[in-house]
Amino acid sequence: MLERLEMKNVGPAPEMVLELAPRMNLITGDNGLGKSFLLDGAWWALTRKWPRELNPRLTSGYAARPTDMTKPAKLRFTVKTTNGHSESYESEYSASDQGWPGRPGRPGNPGLVIHAHADGGFSVWDPARNYWKKKGDMDIQDRLPGYAFSFDEVWTGLVCEVQGKSTRVCKGLLDDWSSWIRERGENAERMAKVLGTLTNAERPLEVGPILRLSVDDTQDIPSLRTDYSDAVPIVHASSAIRRIAGLAYMLVWSWGEHLRAAEQLQVARARQIVLLFDEIDAHLHPRWQRSVVPAILEVMDSLTDDGPDVQLVATTHSPLVLASVEPHFESARDRLFHLDMSDGRVRLDEEPWAIQGDALNWLVSDVFGLRQGRSVEAERAIEAAEAFMRGDGNLLTDGPNERDELHRELERVLAGHDPFWPRWVVWAEREDRGR
Ligand SMILES: Nc1ncnc2c1ncn2[C@@H]1O[C@H](COP(=O)(O)OP(=O)(O)OP(=O)(O)O)[C@@H](O)[C@H]1O
Ligand SMILES: [Mg+2]
Repeated sequence: MLERLEMKNVGPAPEMVLELAPRMNLITGDNGLGKSFLLDGAWWALTRKWPRELNPRLTSGYAARPTDMTKPAKLRFTVKTTNGHSESYESEYSASDQGWPGRPGRPGNPGLVIHAHADGGFSVWDPARNYWKKKGDMDIQDRLPGYAFSFDEVWTGLVCEVQGKSTRVCKGLLDDWSSWIRERGENAERMAKVLGTLTNAERPLEVGPILRLSVDDTQDIPSLRTDYSDAVPIVHASSAIRRIAGLAYMLVWSWGEHLRAAEQLQVARARQIVLLFDEIDAHLHPRWQRSVVPAILEVMDSLTDDGPDVQLVATTHSPLVLASVEPHFESARDRLFHLDMSDGRVRLDEEPWAIQGDALNWLVSDVFGLRQGRSVEAERAIEAAEAFMRGDGNLLTDGPNERDELHRELERVLAGHDPFWPRWVVWAEREDRGR
């Protein structure tokens, strides 16, 4: 797993240091401050490839480019290997190689690494299948350096060049899941269990029959039972279900193939799994945002019954995700990070953990930094009313009937039960009495 990642003169911040916790790491921050980029850096540190180097069809995961080409750019990291040692490593950008050269020698094995990209694509690095050998002083990469799937390839399969031959290295969700359902084997059970946990424990998703979309199309399509239909083809399912199904498939596929490869190659199974998850709340209804992180932690534990350590590094924009982890957060194993702008510079800070109680409190905490959870107009009206009550004047209008205008605006933009009303009404009554 990844213990530390340091970036200098790459990405939005001049320097970033990420000291990761062994289990759950949540990264928050405004758009464009480098959350996805940090995950790509973490993937590179763990696998020594940028996702897009593995598959040019990906829409993200480009190799890091120095911000100022005239100055040294560095990536440093410390990985805890499966045999429990911490190994540090440093790479300086080489303009002549247009890349990040590595120290010769086989790097430490970080365990199985799965990277869920924001667009529904995935990258997988399997210590059994993607590890490289060392002969004398030479690194010999005679296997694939990793698997990177675009969103489509998760569903329809991945073809890679293996020893000069075009090889279908993964059949994809549609074919694999259909075969697993027919075989009624361990993978079908795992898939149903993972999907059930990731969706909703009270009303788990049920798998329906295998369908074909038309007489001419021989593609088998698994289906799901919903409240209104016995068989919704998975390709017609909502964005949220497809995101969750893609994740369930990638977890089952990577772990199942890893076990198979470890057996075939006579190497030990991974004792660590790192899951890098960009925008963990993407497409999810608040009900699912509230359960996704605890469900992922549970799924990872149940999928791997012989208990490898699981490290989750996830980015989120959702206050509900943070509220949902409050009962699970353990300061010794988990950490919260926040990317912020101050004095024109992007900074990455570890955020001291403090329970906020609910999503609204998270929204107005430093982590999200909103002043209110209301509409912009309601926030403006309340701030104007507060200024008016303090005698600072009405910031909305400067007409003669300021108080009435403010009242009308508050009526327009606030709910009847808004907690601001009592303050406004009591103040108005006192004002009237004092007149
Ligand atoms: N390959 C790269 N090399 C150097 N810098 C990069 C690279 N990719 C992204 N960046 C930097 O990161 C910034 C974008 O950051 P990123 O996409 O990680 O933001 P984010 O926090 O994930 O935003 P959002 O919440 O919108 O997803 C770019 O403006 C650029 O400065
Ligand atoms: Mg992003």
